[in-house]
Amino acid sequence: MTSVNSKDNATNLTVLGIETSCDETAAAVVCGPANKRILSSTIRSQIDEHTEFGGVVPEIAARAHIEILDRIVAGAMHEAGCSWDDIDAVAATAGPGLIGGVIVGFMTAKAIAMAANKPLVGVNHLEGHALTARLTDDLAFPFLLLLVSGGHSQFLLVRGVGDYERLGTTIDDAIGEAFDKTAKLLGLPYPGGPHVEKMAAKGDVTRFRLPRPLLDRPGLDMSFAGLKTALRTQAKKLEPVDEQTICDLCAAFQRSVSDVLAARTKSALALFKDRHPDAEPAIVVAGGVAANQEIRRSLLAAADEAGARFVAPPLTLCTDNAAMIAWAGIERLQLGPVDDMALSPRPRWPLDAANAGVLGAGKKGAKV
Ligand code: KG4
Ligand code: ZN
Repeated sequence: MTSVNSKDNATNLTVLGIETSCDETAAAVVCGPANKRILSSTIRSQIDEHTEFGGVVPEIAARAHIEILDRIVAGAMHEAGCSWDDIDAVAATAGPGLIGGVIVGFMTAKAIAMAANKPLVGVNHLEGHALTARLTDDLAFPFLLLLVSGGHSQFLLVRGVGDYERLGTTIDDAIGEAFDKTAKLLGLPYPGGPHVEKMAAKGDVTRFRLPRPLLDRPGLDMSFAGLKTALRTQAKKLEPVDEQTICDLCAAFQRSVSDVLAARTKSALALFKDRHPDAEPAIVVAGGVAANQEIRRSLLAAADEAGARFVAPPLTLCTDNAAMIAWAGIERLQLGPVDDMALSPRPRWPLDAANAGVLGAGKKGAKV
């Protein structure tokens, strides 16, 4: 392994990142931390391959990553205008996620690192999401992270690189998964989130009242499976449902989710202030569900009420991408040399090992 400190790069590194843990094949070249720049970020979504199955099919995902990853990496290097000499290290997602895809990306990264004689950083995908706001918004530690995607729904206290505490999580479906299942139930296409949001915009939010699961209990855990069941029960009563009813149900569903997230965000910020009275309170939202405008508005209102900063990285960096993996690699390398050649890809990898509480694997990965 070569040392990353051979150039004037203790303060600036150029890292190739690779991400393949779900249904996006992505590569990026990022420079930092002194002069933060995303030199390239290429993402190829597999939505078309999975649409007809109404969700991500792990085997299809792994094969699609194999077919295209070489070209995606070459494209990211070309767009960045980099040769291998310009690259200080290779960072790749080593988990958690759909294991076939993780193996494809991480083994490719190992091969590149070995051939180009560069250090390899095995990045926790969730750490990639957690640290993105430090790339985009220069956010200082500590801060709160709300991760809301198809595979994850959790509040994390981010104290430093590698120093996380999971404060709360879904006890059943991830939020994106609940949006996708709700869409499927109502005959809307996959992925469901954007379609539910579009229909909700035309709906009457007062017509149906769906539950706010777990809000009667303390703590920061969440539950979304019951919400979807309640919606199904309402829809069944009115079968066959007309378009307006679908819109009204979507509006009620989206409002319930927003209310739950806003209430839990307020509690999470109160806990944050308790733990870190001297820090400026801040909450970062990441994951595909962060695209939802009503959810964003609710989170912003909750943060405002608590006097906290609300940070939502641009959507392309909120959803799965490789720039966040390269950046997490840079953050890790700042702490000292890294050699992850012996690391194995893993389907589950909680950021907070002391509080793992694995709940089983969702369609889009481990819901840790
Ligand atoms: O982070 P992401 O792109 O992929 C992973 O799950 O890792 O998140 C995808 C999820 C899907 O479940 C999708 O339905 C949801 O994010 N989503 C949305 C919206 N856009 C995407 N959910 C609600 N409203 C949206 N506008
Ligand atoms: Zn993700």
